[in-house]
Amino acid sequence: MPFDEFMERALYGPGGFFAGDELRSEKAGDFLTSPEVSPWFGRMFGRFVARERARLGEPFRLVEVGAGSGSLLAGLLAECDVEAWAVERSPAARHRLAQVVAPGRVVEEMGDALGRGVVIANELLDNLPMAIAVRRGDGWSEQLVADRGGTLAIVEEPARPAVGEWADQFSGPVEEGDIVEVQLQATRWVAEVLAAIGTGSLVIIDYGATAEELEPRRAKGTLRTYRSHHLGPDPLLEPGATDITADVNFTAVMAAAREAGAAVELHRQDDFLSELGLRDVVSQLRREELDLARSGDELARLKIRSDLTDIGALLNPRGLGDFRIVVARV
Ligand SMILES: C[S@@+](CC[C@H](N)C(=O)[O-])C[C@H]1O[C@@H](n2cnc3c(N)ncnc32)[C@H](O)[C@@H]1O
Repeated sequence: MPFDEFMERALYGPGGFFAGDELRSEKAGDFLTSPEVSPWFGRMFGRFVARERARLGEPFRLVEVGAGSGSLLAGLLAECDVEAWAVERSPAARHRLAQVVAPGRVVEEMGDALGRGVVIANELLDNLPMAIAVRRGDGWSEQLVADRGGTLAIVEEPARPAVGEWADQFSGPVEEGDIVEVQLQATRWVAEVLAAIGTGSLVIIDYGATAEELEPRRAKGTLRTYRSHHLGPDPLLEPGATDITADVNFTAVMAAAREAGAAVELHRQDDFLSELGLRDVVSQLRREELDLARSGDELARLKIRSDLTDIGALLNPRGLGDFRIVVARV
């Protein structure tokens, strides 16, 4: 089967990584995302959403797709009182989200939620099933997953036309044997959301880069697995037990948004959060920490120190701060 079909089954099918009772995106889970690191991430997006609402007026709703534990929504709603919806494929995550948004506003399919307003997706696109193309001569072959007597193995066949076309358009400069994750589902998803909201903005936050920036990573490709906060084994070894992910090709994401008629901005996470005032929050917390040190309230001081460390992680230019944010407005 093509790799995207394998990824669909391994992540979302019966026994899939996101299909069971475990909530994956939290400290006790398998990976830690920005909203799980600090509530200030969601709070900054609360400020963003408030601005967008002031710009757009009513009707207005906020939809988070792939909302995980609801940590982004919780921070956001603390800052901005708005009609909020959560879309999640994972039953464990939906269960948790029911504690964060109003009854009836946690849904499995985004078609049941999208409307005029803002849509946010943090670390969703890197989890959407993708095909894998390999540069051969002037064209592309595709990696498929085959069952070899009970053991899964990669085999190469000529690429399906849509896969080859996508790779031609968005691979950037490539050499013989280079590997390109073909994120057709991600680009279709962008088009679908923008068409469905009609008026509003779509915010996509993820790891990844532009096609040109991804060039040095093409020799091996960027596909990888995660388990218990560490890089995991080859994706074929334990399907269902590991997350499968790859760097998002933001050139393709932006092209899909422009194609759908959107005005598009690309930011780094550290710059985006700074513009929304996160560095001012840091200055304020540092002043409070100093006052608490003077007054001798050590417990409260340590709490603020820990908040500052977490915010530092969001802004770290070699860590979460290097994530990219696309804002697409229609
Ligand atoms: C890496 S987690 C990120 C969770 C959360 N956004 C966060 O930042 O902590 C990706 C989430 O997207 C969900 N997901 C994947 N495909 C989806 C889809 N098509 N619609 C809704 N949720 C989806 C998964 O179930 C998973 O919970």
